[in-house]
Amino acid sequence: MNSPDRHFEPATQTADRLVYASTWETAGRVWPSNERQLLTCCRVTDETHDVKTFEFRTGDGLPVRFEPGQFLTISAVVGEQSVERCYTISSPPTRPFLVSITVKRVPGGVMSNWLHDNMVVGKTLDAYGPSGSFTPTDWHAPKYLYLSAGSGVTPLMSMTRSSVDLGQDRDIVFVHSARTPADIVFRDELHRLARQSPNLRRFFVCEGVGDEPDWSGGTGRLSLELLSKWVPDYLEREVFTCGPAGYMSAVRALLREGGHNPERYHQESFDITEGVAPAPVIADAPANAPQTSFTVKLSRTSRSFTMSGSETVLSAAKKAGIKIASSCSQGVCGTCKTKVLEGAVDMHHNGGIRDREVQKGFRLLCCSKPTSDLVLDL
Ligand code: FES
Repeated sequence: MNSPDRHFEPATQTADRLVYASTWETAGRVWPSNERQLLTCCRVTDETHDVKTFEFRTGDGLPVRFEPGQFLTISAVVGEQSVERCYTISSPPTRPFLVSITVKRVPGGVMSNWLHDNMVVGKTLDAYGPSGSFTPTDWHAPKYLYLSAGSGVTPLMSMTRSSVDLGQDRDIVFVHSARTPADIVFRDELHRLARQSPNLRRFFVCEGVGDEPDWSGGTGRLSLELLSKWVPDYLEREVFTCGPAGYMSAVRALLREGGHNPERYHQESFDITEGVAPAPVIADAPANAPQTSFTVKLSRTSRSFTMSGSETVLSAAKKAGIKIASSCSQGVCGTCKTKVLEGAVDMHHNGGIRDREVQKGFRLLCCSKPTSDLVLDL
């Protein structure tokens, strides 16, 4: 996950935020990111044979406030079960009235197959507002390198579209890996964006040529040799990477081998099997007396439940029939982030929350066990 807080060119960073903010303000009231929203599908586009883009507008027409690289948590009833999954947003914040996700159909994937088979124009689903810290808004640099594989292209596409929409002509090299040329998502659009923005260069590397024998892009897998050829100044670039866990491990290893500064490397993954180093346990002040049963109150709804100190707040809430937005249940994605108004927990997360959010009283309920009675901002 991202390295510790480090910021570049605060003036430019502020400028980006101001542009996004003025878009949202022009649009009026925005969708508060901690509220569940009903989204209505208004367009479905086939990107490749197994990837579709689903575009949504909010139920009450509110613009969506987010930063490029952030994700939505989608909630749907599949069969008898309520299923929640995180998807990074592929549309840019410069077009706030429609928000899109681009989804690859995964064999056995519950949500991806449900979306491909059921989501049509006019159909609705629930979503929780955008979150996530995988965004270049906090990491301004003179030069960027975007590395993606498969549907990992989506957050980087949102970043690229934003930059082009704002006429920034940033120095971006976009290197995308795919199985075959036919599997390259947004291939035509990336060519078009590169024509509009001369400092944007794109390269594609495919494992095989498939049914395009005259393919002139790279073949095989991304290697240090290929990277050095296409992006000779890669050591000077702020790197953003998204793709399957194996791809990101390989990319990280080759950048390390090439001498790239790991502090300038950022990656996004909801793959909880990826070797994310667990952060230290964050323990609030311990309770005064040993106690094994605690009361949890929800301040906004006046609901409450009791739970043992050996389970997480999220799982106890679910048992009590209380729905709390969640996805990974491993402290990775940040979806269950909630402010603890009173009381203390032990939290053992995997990078899904920032230090400054912890200081403001937020905790990830999926990996927090109470050490006292709690009042939550829910
Ligand atoms: Fe992902 Fe809690 S559900 S961090």
